[in-house]
Amino acid sequence: MLSISPNITLIQTRILLLGLFSSILLAACGSSAQATNRRNDSPTGDINQGQELHTAYCVGCHSREQGKSSIGPPVVGLVSRSAETITSDDYKGKAETPAGYIRESIMEPGTYVVPGYPDGLMPNYSNTLSQDDLENLVSYLMTYQ
Ligand code: HEC
Repeated sequence: MLSISPNITLIQTRILLLGLFSSILLAACGSSAQATNRRNDSPTGDINQGQELHTAYCVGCHSREQGKSSIGPPVVGLVSRSAETITSDDYKGKAETPAGYIRESIMEPGTYVVPGYPDGLMPNYSNTLSQDDLENLVSYLMTYQ
């Protein structure tokens, strides 16, 4: 009996590891599918917190005043501009809605560079903003029809 038990233990360990591995794999696939689905969802964040984040991180380059020149595109008219962008031939991103486009612009800024503005200036926030921060920001920016 004693000579068999190490083998059984080994098999058990393998089964356990296999189970663990496939559940990690499943979790990874699940979350990427979720991210793709979320891309175009309506934002569910807090508009006031989004405004605070915008004041802290974005307004220096994205003016909120009509007609005021800024380093990046102004936020006035962002939603209708986004709707035009995603249907233009030049757009190669994955967004299907203005909210999806705004999310993509913040998390993967190189996907589409707004004509007339320099490439590489818009920071990539995918490692600095939490999912909640992102939703708050998108909710706030969606008020700029
Ligand atoms: C250092 C300057 C800078 C900062 C800071 C910055 N951006 Fe940008 N952003 C740009 C520039 C330049 C562009 C246009 C070029 C491009 O598309 O990459 C841009 C493009 C965008 C666009 C697409 C706009 C459009 O009209 O299609 C969105 C949305 C955006 N930024 C959101 C944000 C948000 C939200 C923040 C803060 C979390 C932020 N940006 C911070 C410079 C900046």
